[in-house]
Amino acid sequence: MMQELVQTAAPSPQDEPAFDAWVRTHVARIQALIEHHVPAHSVASSALAEAMHYAAALGGKRIRPLLVWAAGECFDGEPAALDAAACAVELVHAYSLVHDDLPCMDNDILRRGLPTVHVQFGQAMALLAGDALQSRAFEVLTSDPLVPPLIQARLCALLAGAIGADGMAGGQAIDLAATGQVLGTNALTNMHRRKTGALFKASLLMGLACANPDVLIDPVTAQCEQLLRRYADAIGLAFQVVDDVLDASSDSATLGKTAGKDAQQGKATFVTLLGLERAWALARELLSEALSAIEALPPVQRARAGHLITLAQRIVSRNH
Ligand code: IPE
Ligand code: IPE
Ligand code: MG
Ligand code: MG
Ligand code: MG
Repeated sequence: MMQELVQTAAPSPQDEPAFDAWVRTHVARIQALIEHHVPAHSVASSALAEAMHYAAALGGKRIRPLLVWAAGECFDGEPAALDAAACAVELVHAYSLVHDDLPCMDNDILRRGLPTVHVQFGQAMALLAGDALQSRAFEVLTSDPLVPPLIQARLCALLAGAIGADGMAGGQAIDLAATGQVLGTNALTNMHRRKTGALFKASLLMGLACANPDVLIDPVTAQCEQLLRRYADAIGLAFQVVDDVLDASSDSATLGKTAGKDAQQGKATFVTLLGLERAWALARELLSEALSAIEALPPVQRARAGHLITLAQRIVSRNH
């Protein structure tokens, strides 16, 4: 049912086997980047290195780096020029999961099918691993000779803005304060846009910045950026709506994290606000919005946006 609705909503869906092959290639690419930048051993502390590697290298759908590469190729960027941005957003995401799972936050024991980092390594090491993954992300962004210094600065600004007090950290603070409360549509949308959507948007804009250093002066690129922001707003929110739905409707084995936690902890989610059916319907509406932004791209970029289209579809049709 879900699958059918998604497919009818989609303009010219990409060849699925070709998309899957692209995903496999780029998941292997991010894995290699993580192994390089977050090795399991370090001179300073082997325990910290092990915890960082555990958090970043073991599993995950890798959606944010895929978005970096998909946005970049839409603007004819070479994958290698996008590697630093792709790696940085995934390291920040890994950090956010480690801290999100801590007993002082969501108190989760299962992540990506494994014990969470604090269960495996202790809370202090989990805190430090999260901190150090975040720092490593900015080191990666500022040490790649393929990325010109001005673009490095722009990437740092985009990422820092997305994950700080007005972005992910701010959204997580709202999430904690809202626990046990009922949030209305606007407040819940605001929370989800910050805690999850902001990093999605940064991933896409970082892909664009790497692929097109003239982002601030070229009018066609500026128009594309606006459309990419519309796409990002829609899929970023859709992603967290689907996360809320899956928490309430799937099982821990499928998710690799504890199902039913949101209700158990009294989290404000789109399921508590709308119920399951209407939350799914919202996710599908957001998919249509994302696809209409892609449709409005100039023909050259539109022709290269196949992976962005299929990623949006998969974000809404995923089962974990
Ligand atoms: C989980 O993100 C955290 C949210 C923002 C909902 P993902 O579902 O992308 O987690 P992994 O990386 O695939 O494990
Ligand atoms: C987490 O949202 C958002 C982050 C910034 C990590 P959730 O708390 O819903 O993510 P899960 O369900 O634990 O993956
Ligand atoms: Mg949380
Ligand atoms: Mg959580
Ligand atoms: Mg969740």
